[in-house]
Amino acid sequence: GSPHIMVRIIMIGESGVGKSNLLTRFARDEFHIDNKSTLGMEMTTKTITLPTGEICQSQIWDTAGQERFKSLAISYFRGAKGAVLVYDVTNRHSLESAREWLAEFRKYADVDAVVILVGNKCDLTSNREVETREGVEFAKQEKLLFIEASAKDSINVEQAFIEVLGRITDN
Ligand code: GTP
Ligand code: MG
Repeated sequence: GSPHIMVRIIMIGESGVGKSNLLTRFARDEFHIDNKSTLGMEMTTKTITLPTGEICQSQIWDTAGQERFKSLAISYFRGAKGAVLVYDVTNRHSLESAREWLAEFRKYADVDAVVILVGNKCDLTSNREVETREGVEFAKQEKLLFIEASAKDSINVEQAFIEVLGRITDN
């Protein structure tokens, strides 16, 4: 059969932006309306077929965005090959926070690490605080992939993961 590729990536960003729900939507097609903050770290695996036809076994580490877990989260950055950096389009502060998470990630991650910036909660159109072009601009400056998504409405979730996993395996 096709060769198997193993890839480990990490979910990062401020608490409450929807990291865990993006992951559960991707891995199990589940969404949780209740706000249950991640405590520590959770790992999920998912096997996908990339657009190239290659089979990719992904191992996705979901970090806790809460300040008290920050050093624990950072301890998983060393040697990482990719990250899903999440902010919430209805929360401007979460975009500023994404800059800080990115800086920490870059200190420890692999030099060729691939990062996708995800503007989550795009279903909440009337509460939007961050325009699409601001995300596009940030991603361009920092050389990140970019997508807006909704874990709730299943918009662009699979695409986000496939883009980052596909790009890592290209390197
Ligand atoms: P920490 O684990 O504390 O770092 O937070 P997190 O980034 O994992 O956020 P989580 O996935 O727990 O989501 C926080 C809250 O936002 C929950 O109440 C979710 O139901 C809600 N949420 C997540 N994604 C979306 C989305 O796409 N749209 C809407 N409307 N709500 C969302
Ligand atoms: Mg979480």
